[in-house]
Amino acid sequence: MPGAVTVATLAALRARAEKAVFVTAYDYATASYADRAGADMILVGDSAAMTMMGLPNTLGIGMTEMLVFARSVTRAVRRALVIGDLPFLSYQPSDEAAVRNAGAFIGRAGCGAVKCEGGRPVVRRVRAMVGAGIAVMGHLGLTPQSLGQLGGYRIQGRSLEAAQRLVDDALALEDAGVFAILIEAVPAETAALVRDRLSVPLYGIGAGPHVDGQLVIAHDMLGCFVGEIAPRFVKRYAEVGDAIERAFRAYAEDVRAGRFPGPEHCYAIDPANEAEIRHARLEGAHS
Ligand code: KIV
Repeated sequence: MPGAVTVATLAALRARAEKAVFVTAYDYATASYADRAGADMILVGDSAAMTMMGLPNTLGIGMTEMLVFARSVTRAVRRALVIGDLPFLSYQPSDEAAVRNAGAFIGRAGCGAVKCEGGRPVVRRVRAMVGAGIAVMGHLGLTPQSLGQLGGYRIQGRSLEAAQRLVDDALALEDAGVFAILIEAVPAETAALVRDRLSVPLYGIGAGPHVDGQLVIAHDMLGCFVGEIAPRFVKRYAEVGDAIERAFRAYAEDVRAGRFPGPEHCYAIDPANEAEIRHARLEGAHS
């Protein structure tokens, strides 16, 4: 049962100027490893559309798939706060949709909180979810669900005006009751400006060091993606994809060469029946 880390724990970390560790996971095994390694928050991100389903962006994933991923993660996690990422059009259409879908992450999947993208345009939805007792994280900067409006995966908040708009959005989300905000793909100075104006924690992904914690997409840091280049802000901690491919190649070679399975991988029969079974095999071969 997830839960040792709560929104109060995260506020306390910020108060002590301690960084929070935030990573994505979408499946039971990865979530177990991340939790055992001490991640404070695990995001079941809609990036699952790309990392788990091979889609070109996050727009094609819905609540049905997200709840399967979220359930797999919460079953594994003992300590971290698990955050369900509300997918495209699961909260934008109405307050009712927002509360129902956020409620499904909490009630059906066992998440501790949800995340949704956007600033002032989603404040009403955030208020509705918070009003229903749900812990909500905001998401500003590069918001992939607005890819069409942003014109691609572009760095946000580069000018003073753009940075000021981010501050205003962040303050509006804070006023609506979010427990934290994630800011994506902005210059470090912009993130610092936003962070200094907030009382709730600000976490960054591609937003430099002056924030209250860092998020990375697990597949990026683990070197486990197919046909994609990890963004420049990602530090690679492993080459898991290469290790997996090497293992499959070695397995294929062993099977084709008859090296697998070896005697050590086979079950023994009851010695009392050995002669009988040999005899039956011989009879089968002769018939
Ligand atoms: O879905 C996700 O993993 C995210 C991060 C990219 C911020 O929202």
